Amino acid sequence: MRIDIITLFPEIALAPLSESIIKRAREKGLVDIHAHQLRDWAEGKHRKTDEYLCGGGQGMLMMPGPIFAAVEELKQQESDTRVILMTPQGIPFKQSDAQRLSSSKHLIILCGHYEGVDHRVIESLVDEEVSIGDYVLTNGAIAAAVVTDAITRLIPGALGDARSPEEESFTDPNRLEAPAYTKPNDFRGMKVPDVLLSGDHGKIEIWKKEQALARTKANRPDLLGG
Ligand code: 6GU
Repeated sequence: MRIDIITLFPEIALAPLSESIIKRAREKGLVDIHAHQLRDWAEGKHRKTDEYLCGGGQGMLMMPGPIFAAVEELKQQESDTRVILMTPQGIPFKQSDAQRLSSSKHLIILCGHYEGVDHRVIESLVDEEVSIGDYVLTNGAIAAAVVTDAITRLIPGALGDARSPEEESFTDPNRLEAPAYTKPNDFRGMKVPDVLLSGDHGKIEIWKKEQALARTKANRPDLLGG
């Protein structure tokens, strides 16, 4: 898979994708990630990428010209390109989206900055508008790194054998995971629950299911509906 990120802050997008599991996935050739400076496609002495809003209003908007030029050039790198715009106005990104996009051939990820992008970009260039949650970031490059990480770790071979994404896909997306413990069994008087030390795998599974439900009720009641 090839992923091209277009942003005014390529270093911000790349930094989290240059360590650990994603770094190794790139080194193995499982994914070819590039972050491009949008200004490279901007015109004039000042390489301007933003402009005041038509009709008035606070702030600046990204101009269509540099974005169209960048996407048109990068589309020539591959066939089967999907263009994603990172924006707080987008559809909330879910694990199922990471799953779906992990079998793509080529993704172009556009990062919104300032008050957003000229709507003609969305109408004629963008396949999906994606948000990573209900809050506002200053910089879409942070969101692009999040989405790229979530997609890349699902490419077969990216995770070690110990943590298989197949196992993840069988887990219920409407339940949080149960609490987990490691050694020591007694830490400052706080004990690991007896059931986890019992060796009774049937009992352990029942305990995990109960705990997962309790944690979901407490932290994410929205996942349980109603
Ligand atoms: Cl994709 N961009 C920005 N700037 N803020 C966000 C976001 C994206 N998703 C949630 N908040």
